[in-house]
Amino acid sequence: MPIQYSISGSTVDEIAASVETAIRGDHIKPGQTLPTVRALAEQLGVSPTTVASSYKELTRRGIVIGEGRRGTKVRAAPPISGRLPMAVAPGTIDLRTGGPDPALLPALVPALLPALLPAPPPFDSLECEHRLYGESAVFGPLAKVAAERLAADDVDASYMAVVGGALDGVERVLGAWLRPGDRVAVEDPGYTAVLDLLLALGLRPVPMAVDELGARPDRLEAALNRGAGAVVLTPRAQNPTGAAWDARRSSDLRRVLHRHPDVLVVEDDHAGPAAGVALETVCAGRRRWATIRSVSKWLGPDLRLAVLAGDRTTVDRVEGRQALGTGWVSYLLQQVVAELWSDRKVLRDLDRAAKVYRSRRNALIKALRSEEITINPISGLTVWVPVTDEHAVVAGLLDQGIAVSPGERFRVEAPPGVRIAFATLREVDAPAVAAALGRVLRQRSVRAG
Ligand SMILES: Cc1ncc(COP(=O)(O)O)c(C=O)c1O
Repeated sequence: MPIQYSISGSTVDEIAASVETAIRGDHIKPGQTLPTVRALAEQLGVSPTTVASSYKELTRRGIVIGEGRRGTKVRAAPPISGRLPMAVAPGTIDLRTGGPDPALLPALVPALLPALLPAPPPFDSLECEHRLYGESAVFGPLAKVAAERLAADDVDASYMAVVGGALDGVERVLGAWLRPGDRVAVEDPGYTAVLDLLLALGLRPVPMAVDELGARPDRLEAALNRGAGAVVLTPRAQNPTGAAWDARRSSDLRRVLHRHPDVLVVEDDHAGPAAGVALETVCAGRRRWATIRSVSKWLGPDLRLAVLAGDRTTVDRVEGRQALGTGWVSYLLQQVVAELWSDRKVLRDLDRAAKVYRSRRNALIKALRSEEITINPISGLTVWVPVTDEHAVVAGLLDQGIAVSPGERFRVEAPPGVRIAFATLREVDAPAVAAALGRVLRQRSVRAG
């Protein structure tokens, strides 16, 4: 759809600022195509080079994307304002957000109160003193419990930083080694925010197809041969597909990576124990690597922090850069996470939560099968259903009171699909969701394959 807004300005900066302001004010919307360079140059009375440079600057910042002959489009998630989820009608079964079920997270009050009051066991080790500048960025007891858990998964935790979550970790590790213009291999389909982040950092995603076991080794090899200097991998709870590596897949990926010893490998273990399967890692013995384990999915997104294990240089660079900005992740938060992560009851509840997610996933898979929709996800909180027309499926489901996400933003070259985030979908409701999807696929002939 052509834009109605009148872009203004006579210099590179003014034109770029005018587009940015229009997007922020919702006058130009995500997905809309900007005027051609020639048309805008004529309209503004400036040279085509000036407009082209403005578009280049907006592209560099991840606000727009050039699509060759199809022109320059506003990206779906331009990094210029916070985003609120789109509202849906009351009563809709909302299966759009890939977060955890709040009912399966540990209760916050017993975890937080002791941080402020003298604490009963098991929280009696929480300290209630002010921390000042110049202390270690990592809270000792958190480092201890994290190192134990990571070591149990064969992750070398000799060097560790604490960052503000998995995405923060991914950004910091990439920032430690890469420059704008560098190529990064990413899963396709993969997590939208990772794709958006790369573009906002001026990095160039090189898509790698995934299958039921995650990133495909042959596609990893192809991406590295295309010049990717880094790769972001999701060992388990792959978002959106719910794939996870088994021992064979991780060994096949390791073999490919072995031929590229200088490639930076980032493992995004965003779901940790909520993934429901054991972690496999490909980082052992590598030169440049990081495994990032976030607590968002199992302790809660508002306790968002992640421990980041890596080689010494990567961890030092991440901590050194962090020291120049945020400094550290609040000790209060690190204490609460350390306590929860060491608490036996919390750990038992976590096991239970992982089982509930597994049952919900299996109920959905089974219900989909009875609609002749066959998918085999084994991990995480989301599943991916291939379809030929994502928006028709999303609209058709919405008509039946079910909200899912179109796959568009999760993919680069991968064929279309929709993502169903099932974390809160009760087993009894799975057949209704599957039946609604079955109806849409039949009515609109948009089944893939
Ligand atoms: C693959 C992936 N990575 C990272 C994140 C975000 O993790 P965090 O909250 O720790 O930044 C998510 C959230 O769903 C995810 O799916």
